[in-house]
Amino acid sequence: MSKIILPSYKEQSPEVKARFDKLKERPVILKVENVTKTFNTSQGPVTVLNNVSFQTYRREFTSIIGPSGCGKSTLVRLLAGLEMFDSGKIMVKDNVIDGPGIDRGMVFQGYTLFPWLTVVENVMYGLLRKGETKSYALNRASEWIRLMGLDKFETAYPSQLSGGMKQRVAIARSLAVHPEMLLMDEPFGALDAQTRAKMQSNLLQIWRNVNISIMFITHDLDEAIYLSDRIIVLKANPGEIAEIIEVPVPRPRTPDQFLSPEFLATKKHVEELIHPVTNYKEDKLPFFKLTQAGDEVI
Ligand SMILES: Nc1ncnc2c1ncn2[C@@H]1O[C@H](COP(=O)(O)OP(=O)(O)OP(=O)(O)O)[C@@H](O)[C@H]1O
Ligand SMILES: [Mg+2]
Repeated sequence: MSKIILPSYKEQSPEVKARFDKLKERPVILKVENVTKTFNTSQGPVTVLNNVSFQTYRREFTSIIGPSGCGKSTLVRLLAGLEMFDSGKIMVKDNVIDGPGIDRGMVFQGYTLFPWLTVVENVMYGLLRKGETKSYALNRASEWIRLMGLDKFETAYPSQLSGGMKQRVAIARSLAVHPEMLLMDEPFGALDAQTRAKMQSNLLQIWRNVNISIMFITHDLDEAIYLSDRIIVLKANPGEIAEIIEVPVPRPRTPDQFLSPEFLATKKHVEELIHPVTNYKEDKLPFFKLTQAGDEVI
């Protein structure tokens, strides 16, 4: 069997390298310094995140990927200010984070819209809380709903929308208040494959046209590579940074890049980091034969 030879995931074309050089000249939006988080459990304290440090730049698209339970959601909750860490420091621009703030919008996997409010009322919510007038909030919310292609659904309730539409409203609601960062924890995890692909393309279009840095958590390697500038790979027990990868796939991204050599090289490397080759004997189930002799189909 012939083997496909892939380039190194570290190989960057001149365009990609120039893009990263420019990106690193932009202002730092998020700075995470030596963050450690321990939970007290019935079995005693468990360190979930250990000494995590990284920074992201203005309008950078960063993904976090890692095995289940490695602390991805915990990290994003710390960034959102929903949970406190034990030691270290998190800064968004020049502000030390010690609680939630409108500089960070959040979109989770579970639909977080208020079911008793219409689409437009959901998007207006943050604006009104910020102290904007009702007419300003209405105009801005309508504008965002239009940008999301949902103008026919302004007066619909969340229960009348599909999963993808609900997530588009959630993104509109977060972006309407002009945050510095959008924190997204597996936002497309509950969607079917086609809707998910459409949402990924929608998100890239929004990100290209809005002044926003995105921190995106996903289990899906293709999704992380397709969307991101850099991917932070976490390993588990305790959650630590295994590697920060600069995605060598050129922008603008299109689905036909999924099979490009640089895409596949990156995917292979991330796959090896997340699922190191183990002794397959460990995966063997203690099966006994249930088939009739003579009708083997292997
Ligand atoms: N409030 C809590 N109290 C105790 N342990 C917690 C708490 N929240 C999370 N944990 C533990 O911290 C670890 C990391 O959880 P977290 O939800 O951050 O993982 P994750 O990487 O997001 O996983 P998944 O990919 O399955 O979403 C897990 O072992 C989890 O059991
Ligand atoms: Mg999680």
